Amino acid sequence: MEWSDVLKLDPIHLNLGGCYDCHPRKGYRGYVSVDLKPRRRWAVAHDLTTPIPLPDGVVSRIHTEDFIEHIRLEAIERLLAECHRVLKPGAFMRIGCPDYSGPLHRHCLELGYDPDWPLHITLTTHDLLEEIIARSPFERHKFYHFWDGDRHVEEPIDYSLGLVTRTPDTCSACRREGWWQKWRGRVADEKYRLSKNGNVTELEMSTRRGHRLHVTTLVFDLFKE
Ligand SMILES: C[S@@+](CC[C@H](N)C(=O)[O-])C[C@H]1O[C@@H](n2cnc3c(N)ncnc32)[C@H](O)[C@@H]1O
Repeated sequence: MEWSDVLKLDPIHLNLGGCYDCHPRKGYRGYVSVDLKPRRRWAVAHDLTTPIPLPDGVVSRIHTEDFIEHIRLEAIERLLAECHRVLKPGAFMRIGCPDYSGPLHRHCLELGYDPDWPLHITLTTHDLLEEIIARSPFERHKFYHFWDGDRHVEEPIDYSLGLVTRTPDTCSACRREGWWQKWRGRVADEKYRLSKNGNVTELEMSTRRGHRLHVTTLVFDLFKE
């Protein structure tokens, strides 16, 4: 797909860094994936650290999951400004990304990088994103999922307005449903305990059992008035 084809769509829904998550995949009907390496027909090749080649105010919805942590802080700021520019007034964008203030990942903040996911070049947290949003042109925002100290705040999300696939609500592996997921969860817990030589806190284990660690734990919407 080319940008000229995207412009012919009505409405235009974009999934930034969407990889395979585009029309007609379940949950992404009508979305065009915008990615460095698009793999399907409903996708455009584009480097999102550069301006989006669309006119002002033509996009009805923007979605992005587990992408913004792959670009630098300044690029996230430029991207949000671009998203605001191309969105129609009254439209919004939904963002899901890791929360590095969560118990499993907060040590990465001290290290300054994530040894498990070195491609995550911005360690996203609720506080950092509040700062970025305050500097962005978006008039209003709402966080649904984030870590507040050791508490995982979870407000209801209307997934019909944008599917985030790795939240405790949407990921069956996170919920550990059925004997297979329960068994895999127990094995994963034990492997985790062994990898830490048994030095795991009860908070970490209870959070694992609550399935809140390996998920897209920051989810928020940005609204253009
Ligand atoms: C972790 S994957 C997430 C894919 C999908 N959103 C998901 O949740 O499964 C990150 C995606 O961002 C894309 N990406 C990374 N840097 C990019 C850039 N500068 N511009 C566009 N896409 C980029 C990668 O090609 C990859 O498909």
